Amino acid sequence: MAYRNLEIANRGAVRTITVNRPDKLNALNRETLNELTLAFTQAAQDDVVRVVVLAGAGEKAFVAGADIAEMNGYTPVQAQGFSRTGQRLMSLVERLGKPVIARIQGFALGGGMELAMCCHLRVASEKAKFGQPEINLGLIPGFGGTQRLLRLAGRSAALELCLLGAPISAQRAYELGVVNRVVAPEALDDTVTAMADQLAAAAPLAAAGILDAVLQGGESSIDQGLEFETQAFALAFATEDMREGTTAFLEKRKAEFKGR
Ligand code: COA
Repeated sequence: MAYRNLEIANRGAVRTITVNRPDKLNALNRETLNELTLAFTQAAQDDVVRVVVLAGAGEKAFVAGADIAEMNGYTPVQAQGFSRTGQRLMSLVERLGKPVIARIQGFALGGGMELAMCCHLRVASEKAKFGQPEINLGLIPGFGGTQRLLRLAGRSAALELCLLGAPISAQRAYELGVVNRVVAPEALDDTVTAMADQLAAAAPLAAAGILDAVLQGGESSIDQGLEFETQAFALAFATEDMREGTTAFLEKRKAEFKGR
């Protein structure tokens, strides 16, 4: 289907979803949130897709936040709906069951930082800027920023970014554990492509198990998390991919995973 605010591209098992409103620095209006929800739902359902790359169009921004012009006229009830729509999208991405890589080349502010944080891996250009500047608008993060930043980087960083509202560099985001890789702008695409290709060739059910165990574990006690890990580990032994992976090792050849 054709989207007004997104571009979708497929390369083998890698699907790239690009927010495409560069004249508004890819700000997330309601329509874009709805289109992203549809695009990620389709990516989850399409068996050919093993990894998703999420990007923003243009040089300047990954996503510069929720659409301030649209929010300016919201009633509290509309704001509640907007927040819930955004939060549902971010949870959908986080729980997709397939790895999602955020490709971040410029501003990742407000809803943009929140969107990056619900992805599983973040690769940033040295020129990227991160921040939760909502306080400067008399607002607070509404798409999960207070919660995911807390969990990714701890209370001190979450409070610093949300209270001071100042942007931080990609390097500082890396030091806080918010970003996985910081690379020169010209190396961004190659780094993302190499990471996506590696994940596309990996055993998809094992990837899903890892995503599940880590995400569940983040919300539970160590004992519950360990039990979840044991069950997911045992389940892997029911897959053809596990037989293929271990046999390929023993036969000194490259494994070919089928997602079964
Ligand atoms: N919502 C709606 N429109 C936005 C936007 C947002 N979050 N961020 C940028 N835009 C729009 C601008 O209004 C401008 O539109 P216009 O050309 O029709 O006036 C266009 O995108 C380009 O942005 P501009 O501000 O001119 O670029 P800049 O390089 O001078 O500044 C930023 C870049 C990111 C510093 C600045 O756009 C900004 O502060 N954006 C808002 C960030 C924010 O507070 N995000 C959290 C929202 S909850």
